[in-house]
Amino acid sequence: MKQTKRIKLQMQDISIEFPGVKALSNVDFEMESGTIHALIGANGAGKSTLMKVLSGVNSHYEGKIFIDGKEEEIRSPKAAKSKGIEIVYQEVDTALIPYLSVAENIMLNSTVNNMGKKQMVNWKEIHTRAEAILEKLNISMNIKDLVSDLSLAQKQMVLIARAVVEECRFLVLDEPTAPLSNTETKELFRIVRDLSQNENVGVIFISHRLNELFEICENITIMKDGTVVANKPIDNNLTPKQVVEMMLGRKFDDRYPKKEIEIGEVLLEVEGLHEKEGSVKNVSFNVRKGEIIGISGLVGAGKTELCKTLFGAMKQSQGEIRLSGKPLKITNPFSAVKQGLALVPEERRKEGILVEDPVYANLSATSLDKYSKKFSFIDKNAEKAAAKEIIADLGIKTPSENQLVKLLSGGNQQKVAVGKWLISDADIYILDEPTKGVDVGAKQDIFELIGRLAEMGKGIIYASCEFGEILGIADRTYVMYDGEIVKELEIANTNEEELLYYSTGGR
Ligand SMILES: Nc1ncnc2c1ncn2[C@@H]1O[C@H](COP(=O)(O)OP(=O)(O)OP(=O)(O)O)[C@@H](O)[C@H]1O
Ligand SMILES: [Mg+2]
Repeated sequence: MKQTKRIKLQMQDISIEFPGVKALSNVDFEMESGTIHALIGANGAGKSTLMKVLSGVNSHYEGKIFIDGKEEEIRSPKAAKSKGIEIVYQEVDTALIPYLSVAENIMLNSTVNNMGKKQMVNWKEIHTRAEAILEKLNISMNIKDLVSDLSLAQKQMVLIARAVVEECRFLVLDEPTAPLSNTETKELFRIVRDLSQNENVGVIFISHRLNELFEICENITIMKDGTVVANKPIDNNLTPKQVVEMMLGRKFDDRYPKKEIEIGEVLLEVEGLHEKEGSVKNVSFNVRKGEIIGISGLVGAGKTELCKTLFGAMKQSQGEIRLSGKPLKITNPFSAVKQGLALVPEERRKEGILVEDPVYANLSATSLDKYSKKFSFIDKNAEKAAAKEIIADLGIKTPSENQLVKLLSGGNQQKVAVGKWLISDADIYILDEPTKGVDVGAKQDIFELIGRLAEMGKGIIYASCEFGEILGIADRTYVMYDGEIVKELEIANTNEEELLYYSTGGR
């Protein structure tokens, strides 16, 4: 994959349409190999669509693509690969074959492509080359391990290794850091820097976290509504705030709009909760009416497991959960909903939404009772009207409430998953990393809605590894470490350092 000459990638006047959506209008994008280039824009701005043009997936584009000054037709993934263009999508799980080994997954494309030429798979060569690429990238991993046994971060590394095992000149990483912990992100950055500096790969880096882009990228392209609004070097003349204002097209204040809400009596009490497999141990806490409770902790601390156990999606082996003093009997998510709980799960695309269904059906799925008239006919008009309201509230970008969820951008799918629970009529809302993958503007819309729920006297449980968010929105927080709650803190009297201290095992 070694290439020393810097080469240019130019996308000129790119436009593309889908039924009812003009996703890109006359976009120009330019970068050089050997550099790291940031791509940012609000949810639905067209980032993934543009990169799918480059990787040959969106083959019906208009416009021109030049590589090293030569015009290329990129009308299939195969054509893109043959020009050294590789992409790692956000859904890493679907891109790998779980029951094959690390080596086999890394060499998958090369093996498949050479099938016609060779009669037999050369295992020795597969192992040597897979080992060599991991070594080159400084990734320590056993190539014989099964991919199903790897962590998400490791899976992502396998995908990157696979992308660069053949000659790679441009590598697209679409929101690679969204599911990673801080340490894992640092490790990814090291690999990305390595690839650009030592291997002359041009990396296109998509992320909603501005600090990351400012940390590793040299240039930035800012998109808005299917167009490019700016193309700049990242230097001292550019601030994150300017970038956000350009991508949103308005002034932006990144302080969270925390409302003054009167906090009432205790609504939810959890006592001595254990999860069957031991991922949640002896957890006790409470939530009062109108109160927003943070569950802080690092990736892997047990926050998601706690949320799922409360909601009946993981088995509770001991403990008691009481709502307004009355013990609940939660055996599965259905019984949790019936008893007044709502959960926005972390793995929303897998667990939270029905991607083959239209937006309005997703938004009402949890509250069908509300819309069913006599004889249990569903009142479609009421259902659609409520959906329209949430679409406006959260700024969900969709041509209409009838669009299939799978056709929305990643971040807008997230907003649907959050929105569907906000319509429902629960007493306790459990939100697990609700802002993952949503843009900074939409984040505030979600906070605004959470604030409204609190005003209505609901109890909110907000699990997040982003301490800044917990500090901005919560009233109190419990810190988790290794499946246990190790500390309770009043937000008014704490700070990021203290949260980090307890999250990393300080006592
Ligand atoms: N196959 C498709 N059919 C219909 N509409 C589509 C299709 N692919 C993309 N779109 C639409 O194009 C627009 C741009 O989507 P895209 O996925 O590129 O956004 P994005 O900038 O990557 O957003 P996010 O930050 O949420 O991932 C959206 O309105 C999306 O719904
Ligand atoms: Mg996207």
